[in-house]
Amino acid sequence: MATDDQILLARRHLASARNVTILTGAGISADSGVPTFRGTDGLWHNFRAEDLATPEAFEQDPQLVWEWYNWRRELIATKQPNPAHDTLVKLERQWTDRMWLITQNVDGLHRAAGSERLSEIHGNIWKVRCTGCGVISENREIPLPTLPMCRLCHALLRPHIVWFGESLWEKDLRRCDEALRACDLLLVIGTSGVVYPAAGFASVAKDVGALVIEINLENTPQSDLVDLSLQGRAKDVVPQLL
Ligand code: OAD
Repeated sequence: MATDDQILLARRHLASARNVTILTGAGISADSGVPTFRGTDGLWHNFRAEDLATPEAFEQDPQLVWEWYNWRRELIATKQPNPAHDTLVKLERQWTDRMWLITQNVDGLHRAAGSERLSEIHGNIWKVRCTGCGVISENREIPLPTLPMCRLCHALLRPHIVWFGESLWEKDLRRCDEALRACDLLLVIGTSGVVYPAAGFASVAKDVGALVIEINLENTPQSDLVDLSLQGRAKDVVPQLL
């Protein structure tokens, strides 16, 4: 567990930062009851990513992929933002244009909490994209038909998610790069730090001289690189930083 001294030090760093960037992963939503991917009960222990979260899987069996996303939408719809999400909203209101939030989470809980200055780099489970005309739209229907079709061009819709083997959107990459290069403090919350490019963000921030603080239940491959590692639940640790 993070000690009082460590928390105090992190609070000081945050209070004196000029520009803060935050990277979040599934760990922040775990405290709302959303399963992580690589934890003991993580999704990737019970499901095969290659069957459900790749463009090839969708091409082969779109019905199966949509069934899985319908199940996840149903589960996430019952969850609420927790105090860690709420604290990041407060931070955004205090820091305004000196703060940017980058999330790998697709559950939409940061937006539901009220965050507006954010990049959802892996997409959003509440959005669909047409495989024909490419139009992206918000869609909160549960369940969606197992083969949902575009109202405009009648082609198949897919989840607006970045799957394994796909690249991040150019505009998100640019925005993240800007935020990482501008920050003097990066907070990395609840990510295992194994999925790129997000796994490389702490190094980018270090390269520009920023201080990096990690908040996680356990050590990650990034723990040796960061300046301060705070162990504990995001919902307990993050609110103590403000
Ligand atoms: P992971 O499941 O890989 O990692 C979750 C991290 O959160 C682990 O390091 C846990 O120790 C930590 N954790 C769990 N509970 C926590 C808590 N209450 N407080 C703080 N930390 C906690 O999730 P990500 O790193 O987000 O891709 O995974 C990255 C990407 O891999 C995801 O965005 C997803 C997945 O495939 C897509 O959805 C496209």
